[in-house]
Amino acid sequence: MLKDKKILIGITGSIAAYKVIELVRLLIKAGAEVKVILTPAATQFVSPLVLSTLSKNTVLTEMFTESGWSNHVMLGRWADVMVIAPASCNTLSSMASGRCDNLLLAVYLSAVCQILCVPAMDEDMWMHPATKRNLEQLRTDGNTIMDVGVGDLASGLNGSGRMAEPQDIFNAIESLLTTNNSLLQKKVLITAGPTYEKIDPVRFIGNFSTGKMGFALAEVFANRGADVTLVAGPVNIQAHHPNIQRIDVSSASEMHKEVAARFPDADVCIMSAAVADYRPSEFSETKIKKQGDSLNLMLEKNADILSEMGKQKKDSQILVGFALETNNEEAYAMQKLKNKNADYIVLNSLQSAGAGFGYDTNNITIFNRSGRMYTSGIKSKKEIASEIANIISQHL
Ligand code: CTP
Repeated sequence: MLKDKKILIGITGSIAAYKVIELVRLLIKAGAEVKVILTPAATQFVSPLVLSTLSKNTVLTEMFTESGWSNHVMLGRWADVMVIAPASCNTLSSMASGRCDNLLLAVYLSAVCQILCVPAMDEDMWMHPATKRNLEQLRTDGNTIMDVGVGDLASGLNGSGRMAEPQDIFNAIESLLTTNNSLLQKKVLITAGPTYEKIDPVRFIGNFSTGKMGFALAEVFANRGADVTLVAGPVNIQAHHPNIQRIDVSSASEMHKEVAARFPDADVCIMSAAVADYRPSEFSETKIKKQGDSLNLMLEKNADILSEMGKQKKDSQILVGFALETNNEEAYAMQKLKNKNADYIVLNSLQSAGAGFGYDTNNITIFNRSGRMYTSGIKSKKEIASEIANIISQHL
């Protein structure tokens, strides 16, 4: 698939640079044409000689050399994809702010191709709000950002920040260069995030859902050409695709209303939201003051949105529910599929490390009417979303 594709790799100053040697080897083996740019700091971590030998091209480091000037505009136009791996905190920050003080940054700013950033850094730097801000800006600018891995870090600590493995970067390059229009113009309705059920003006009943799985689904389906409507509970993430129409809601009943209005037109409906099953029976217009040693809150049941849509579902529509169980997982998932008239249930496992609320990874099992059909193992939420999209494309 990558035969004759032109891949430009920008390496920055991070210990993970050594892994890029393997990436170059994989790309050359697949028949791609590879050129490599190093930032001055990267030359401390990886040998230009190894990279030029493997890539069969001169490795570029300087904007100006004794023999001339590296034409950054032509390099940016030459590439089918530019991969910045490892992307250090410093380079990410420079890219986000449009700085141009080395060859790699000049090529980035001139590039007209897709850009894949593969961050690598220590966990504290990865978690810093400034890094998050820079990544958000880079996404808004149209770049694709790969997730970091969890494990041993150069500092000796263990946590998030490891650069993605060469094979995963290779797969990401392949998927960026493959146009997949398998869901062209299909109408896909997705719910994501938690719901907040108000108790009084300052309190609510909610849950730990961050919406990451639902947003990953929206992005993957939109990338495949679908018209996506994303009904999102209160979350702190952005959707980045012109094919995604986002509708923000707060409570389960607001989510119900928005979903019910759009469901009849949907080809596919995926309910990944963690909807509150109950809401306070009464909303207090004023803040509830503390009184005795205990407080009783009366709750009443919310409508089950998935079940309600299951009742209206036409044969041509595909309905997907999510389930989160702590015990008897398979039996409960199958029961949910039947009771709610869903075509698929995606079971989230809380048993594995790296899966569940807030993580960028997940571990799921998908059930259809005949039983268990797919188990993912620990994968990024984006990869899991792609697997779900594959299953839906085949079904359609
Ligand atoms: N769901 C929904 N409306 C609700 C509750 C849940 O649409 N009021 C949907 C969720 O979006 C998810 C699926 O139903 O797709 C499973 O939700 P879950 O809370 O795991 O199951 P419940 O049906 O609430 O059952 P239980 O709490 O007994 O597990």
